[in-house]
Amino acid sequence: MASISRRTAITTGLSVATVGAVGYSLWPRMEGYREEVARQRQLLAGDPGLEELVRMATLAANGHNTQPWKFRLTDQSVSILPDFTRRTAVVDPDDHHLFVSLGCAAENLVIAGAALGRGSEVAVGTSGGVTQIEIALSAAQPGGQERYQAIPLRQSTRSLYDGQPVSSADIDLLATAAREEGVSILFFTAPADRDAVLEFVIQGNSAQMDDPAFVQELADWIRFSPARAIETGDGLFGASSGNPVVPEWIGRQAFKLFFTKEAETDKYRNQIRSSAGIAVFVGEKADPEHWIKVGRSFQRFALQATALGIRTAHVNQPVEVASVRPDFARWLGAPDARPDLVIRFGRAPAMPMSLRRPVSAVLA
Ligand SMILES: Cc1cc2nc3c(=O)[nH]c(=O)nc-3n(C[C@H](O)[C@H](O)[C@H](O)COP(=O)(O)O)c2cc1C
Repeated sequence: MASISRRTAITTGLSVATVGAVGYSLWPRMEGYREEVARQRQLLAGDPGLEELVRMATLAANGHNTQPWKFRLTDQSVSILPDFTRRTAVVDPDDHHLFVSLGCAAENLVIAGAALGRGSEVAVGTSGGVTQIEIALSAAQPGGQERYQAIPLRQSTRSLYDGQPVSSADIDLLATAAREEGVSILFFTAPADRDAVLEFVIQGNSAQMDDPAFVQELADWIRFSPARAIETGDGLFGASSGNPVVPEWIGRQAFKLFFTKEAETDKYRNQIRSSAGIAVFVGEKADPEHWIKVGRSFQRFALQATALGIRTAHVNQPVEVASVRPDFARWLGAPDARPDLVIRFGRAPAMPMSLRRPVSAVLA
């Protein structure tokens, strides 16, 4: 890029955009993609087996949509194991996000089970030195329909929100839903606080954009075309982040040209300022057991938000970049803690949903 003049870059950018627009108009529509989403996101029917509960679990939030999990089923139990082949070593060198993601999946499974009359006992243990989650299921009164119904509707909504506040009654409901022993949630709704968090997001984002390994890892998990997203069943579908639907090769070229620090800074500034507030999740300890707790807490938060018509999106840069994290923790007033998740929330229309791999691909 350094050797290309600005004018050439603009011309190339325009031609890529033009080809992209043509590609979009010729695109064999998004129908196949939408059908796949609808099929994957059906609520449970009849008396479903454990594999169907696993399908619900896989609809959980997870870093870069790598789906870093395996499920081992017995008659009345489900174990959730990390799949380290799907770790994201650059953005998540200590597998923090990976274990948070396992906690999110566990929570979906517990909530889906509860709605169908299966109680859960969740334990975190280790096997061969690897942390895993054990969920023992038993008969119980059905309950928790509202959050269960929200499972297929929840999404990470990476768009501008409507700039309106969320009522304190709704924030109380979010805080209650997310309550989890060993996890604190801090809410920031004052514009000055949102701007302060924004500055940490920009700092973290700038560091990540300056790191070619971060950019490459991210690019590896982006699926620019519906065909590629359907083929892999994982990754970050471009349209889910508001990008045009283009053939894979055009998307890769456009990413190289348009994914710049300046553009990303502007995007985060606008997105955070359009949000009603920011919730920061802080675990009592920095270990896989607490990261799983954070995941369970966040997933309930996001499902409750969905049930209330409130959108959520991660802006985790301040906790991902090791050099920014301590200053952010100090700003939070928790200098000895490791803050885990930074989530903006507010109201906005839905974006295209992301896909998942089939259950058969995630059974251990
Ligand atoms: C631990 C964790 C970290 C995440 N970090 C980010 C992030 O920094 N930025 C972002 O846009 N999404 C982030 N996400 C959201 C995931 O990309 C998202 O859950 C995944 O792509 C699946 O999409 P869905 O949430 O719409 O189902 C994170 C999710 C988890 C669980």
